[in-house]
Amino acid sequence: MSRILITGATGHIGGLLALRLLRNKAQVRLLVRDFNRVPDQLRQAEVVSGEFGDLIAMRRALTGVERVFFYTPQHLDASLFPLAAECGVKQIVLLSSASVVKVSAQSDNPVAQRHRRAEQAVQESGIDWTFLRPDLLASNSLQWAPSILANDEVRVPYPESLRNPIHEDDIALIAAHALLTSKLSRSALTLTGPKALTIAEQVRLISKAVGRSITCVRISPEEAIADYMGSHPEASPRVAKLLVEYQHKTVTQAAANTVDFLNATGIEARTFGKWAQDHRAAFTP
Ligand SMILES: NC(=O)c1ccc[n+]([C@@H]2O[C@H](COP(=O)([O-])OP(=O)(O)OC[C@H]3O[C@@H](n4cnc5c(N)ncnc54)[C@H](OP(=O)(O)O)[C@@H]3O)[C@@H](O)[C@H]2O)c1
Repeated sequence: MSRILITGATGHIGGLLALRLLRNKAQVRLLVRDFNRVPDQLRQAEVVSGEFGDLIAMRRALTGVERVFFYTPQHLDASLFPLAAECGVKQIVLLSSASVVKVSAQSDNPVAQRHRRAEQAVQESGIDWTFLRPDLLASNSLQWAPSILANDEVRVPYPESLRNPIHEDDIALIAAHALLTSKLSRSALTLTGPKALTIAEQVRLISKAVGRSITCVRISPEEAIADYMGSHPEASPRVAKLLVEYQHKTVTQAAANTVDFLNATGIEARTFGKWAQDHRAAFTP
């Protein structure tokens, strides 16, 4: 089997994908920005350093690989995917976002625009593609860990907001399937968990998994924006505001659950209860 490049190997999904491919005895090369952050269990793989904006490093990383798992860059260099084609890459599995289909093309939503631009650039490169479009990653709930560890509470403006979180390892599973079988060539999959549930229900499931009572505390939208900016100093206040507005909207409009994961893999996506059990340690002092 030809070599596969995994970008974002220090990330949640990239790391889990790399582990899956190594277990499958695939020939894997990892792209990281910092060698010191490579997890121990991935050190047996070939590791190269570089970042998306450094085209010299990207040429080194892309040379000699046939398939690539790409994160969507924050700032896309227009030469990146043409460079991949020039290096002989035959398939790209892009970690995109459901915002591409949920948000109108006329909207200036920066998250949708970033992912839409990357999808278009991959298609224009002529390389075979698969777009994985998660709606909401369950791993977002790790942002609650500091307040759970400090006070056994989760502070949100809309506890009744309905979501459909998908386990990050289910994204890794489907990415591995796409890379190892080519069965998802020219497919764009919108990926959700198996069932919509409220934030309050998510908190109850974490509470059950850790065996402690955790309170869901309602805060004002302004406090939520300030909390977000405090924990994401690099983020724009506009993104923080959009996230809070989206939470409000989903009180009455549950995000749809799709069958794309089931259809592609033949198995149900994991529940949020299972995710909470798998991440007990993150919420346990
Ligand atoms: N959160 C959601 O609900 C949601 C919904 C839909 C789609 N998504 C997509 O999923 C992504 C998050 O996935 P995740 O949780 O696995 O992310 P993550 O854990 O934050 O990992 C991101 C990875 O990308 C690497 N990276 C960042 N900038 C880079 C650059 N300029 N060059 C090379 N590598 C770079 C990071 O490297 P370092 O370790 O060096 O930082 C890290 O390995 C989002 O960015 C979005 O595209 C998320």
